[in-house]
Amino acid sequence: MNYIVVKTYEELSTRVASIICGQIAMKPQCVLGLATGSSPLGAYAKIVEKNKAGEVDFSNVRSVNLDEYVGLHGEHDQSYRYFMNNNLFKHINIDINNTYVPDGCAEDIEAECKAYDELIDRLGGIDLQLLGIGYDGHIGFNEPDTYFEKSTHRVTLDSSTIEANSRFFASRDDVPKTAITMGIGGIMSAKRVLLIANGKGKREIVEKAFFGPITPSVPASILQLHPNLTVIYSEN
Ligand code: GLP
Repeated sequence: MNYIVVKTYEELSTRVASIICGQIAMKPQCVLGLATGSSPLGAYAKIVEKNKAGEVDFSNVRSVNLDEYVGLHGEHDQSYRYFMNNNLFKHINIDINNTYVPDGCAEDIEAECKAYDELIDRLGGIDLQLLGIGYDGHIGFNEPDTYFEKSTHRVTLDSSTIEANSRFFASRDDVPKTAITMGIGGIMSAKRVLLIANGKGKREIVEKAFFGPITPSVPASILQLHPNLTVIYSEN
């Protein structure tokens, strides 16, 4: 594991943008695994600047996102499809048809999950997976459990996750109770993983996940076994 501590969110964002753009320079048709949440926002803004400056070309890039709320369609302003479109995809030269987010409104959620894993296989797997981390150690929406769930699946969100994410909704009751998430198998099979966390509030879970025992009660801890993992933590 490459564990990097930086002083500011600005520095974290600069490093993440440069790793992602470096990946694209190395393999222009790469598959990026992308994440939502507040942590990647700074990096996404920097990537947009680099794309506008002609420093990175997304025309052949494919992307797969980690997760989506069940019941929110892509135009809902709290859906992860909407988040990705508005914070990244609309502002760069990626072909929107090459961007994939699970469909939270699929009629058959189980079939959607299966199709998502097949899609990742068809794309040839993920070259670089970007991750945030929840206060309970979740990655994507893989919540603490008694085992690691391998495949893309439907998950019931923990009350702490609902609480944390309620800041984006009108009220706590508006937060969907379930979500589709890429499984631990999909994340672990990415060729390279980059997990980012920022702020003092994340310090405890980051230490638990990367310097504590590997356990499904802290889902991110499995990443200690990934052969190409970079963790960037910013204190402020
Ligand atoms: C959500 C997302 C996760 C993300 C987490 C942390 O629950 N499903 O993918 O990592 O939030 O978000 P933040 O970066 O805002 O702390």
